[in-house]
Amino acid sequence: MNHWRAPLNLLLLLAISTLLATFTGCGPSGGGDTISIGEFASLTGKEAAFGQSSHKGTLLAIEDINAAGGVLGKKINFIYEDNRSTPGESATIVKKLITRDNVVAVLGEVASGRSLEAAPICQANKIPMISPSSTNPKVTETGDFIFRVCFIDPFQGTVMAKFAKAKVNARKVAVLSDVSAPYSLGLAQYFKEQFTADGGAIVSEQKFSSGDKDFKAQLTAIKGTSPEAIFVPCYYTEAGLIVRQARQLSITVPLLGGDGWEAPELIQIGGEALEGCFYSTHYSPEDAAPAVQDFVKKFKAKNGGEIPDAMAALGYDSAMVLAEAIKKAGTTDGPKVRDAIAATKDYMGVTGKTTLDANRNATKPAVILAIKDGKFKYVETITP
Ligand code: PHE
Repeated sequence: MNHWRAPLNLLLLLAISTLLATFTGCGPSGGGDTISIGEFASLTGKEAAFGQSSHKGTLLAIEDINAAGGVLGKKINFIYEDNRSTPGESATIVKKLITRDNVVAVLGEVASGRSLEAAPICQANKIPMISPSSTNPKVTETGDFIFRVCFIDPFQGTVMAKFAKAKVNARKVAVLSDVSAPYSLGLAQYFKEQFTADGGAIVSEQKFSSGDKDFKAQLTAIKGTSPEAIFVPCYYTEAGLIVRQARQLSITVPLLGGDGWEAPELIQIGGEALEGCFYSTHYSPEDAAPAVQDFVKKFKAKNGGEIPDAMAALGYDSAMVLAEAIKKAGTTDGPKVRDAIAATKDYMGVTGKTTLDANRNATKPAVILAIKDGKFKYVETITP
């Protein structure tokens, strides 16, 4: 029965190498039976709502890709790690994903500060990284291996400045930002530039630091300048507390935010105080476009009826754009996949058309949502 032995040995070898590749991530993942793709996300901690949501969207995309046969004839082996929303963790995680797990590309993060920690490592290792939803310009400025599938904050800041003037009728606005988040400082700056260029006045600029719980001093100072709106470009935990405390101090004007407000937790924390406030984001699940409604249906079915938010939609699109690029590149070689991602043009995703420009950023419409009766309500879409 000698003629059986060779194939049997071969089969055994194959099984062992597959096992090794799956469990240790060892071996060239492009050359094995699967292609390893990494993700770093804030799955726990202060911004867990972001990480969880983005992760669920990304996971759904990977499942869809694998169900359709994977890429280059191989299934994607999706390896994700939690940075606990903590500074310093993302760099360590991404190093491990690249050197130990041999991922061919990295997806993440939501928060710009954490994308900025990981980007130099991906760049140095020539491993493409696609951030689904980090909007600070510096993220992709890190280098030519770093991409994003969302708009950037100079646009988002402009959108909210124009909205404050035209729809809130504010001529005097106060700004309260988080010094520990590059996202917050950048967005505050872009808002100010546009608002003052349009003839408005910034009457007060106050700061806080991520994790602060008491904003009464800053809000009292703001109240003294009688603004007609307050721009608060920060993440949902602080935003919810700030809006609450503003109302306790009898500040009745609308508070405005950016995409960092996007989480059901915002409403849990801010409650009724949020009524009549507005923020900008990337997408609305109320959008009737078939691509959006298909995605909402699929996501809800998989996640116990949960409605996908902007991070879920962008997480989904980030994985899809990557998979398309690997297919086009015909290889998992970092520089070749990089070139293919850079050439992304008119990819029709859940968040609209993705075309990456020379700076590796997408240009997409922004959506403004209001908080009404304890719910997020679609207000309008602003095209660039
Ligand atoms: N744009 C934010 C940042 O760069 C992150 C974010 C995206 C938050 C989408 C909510 C929704 O930090």
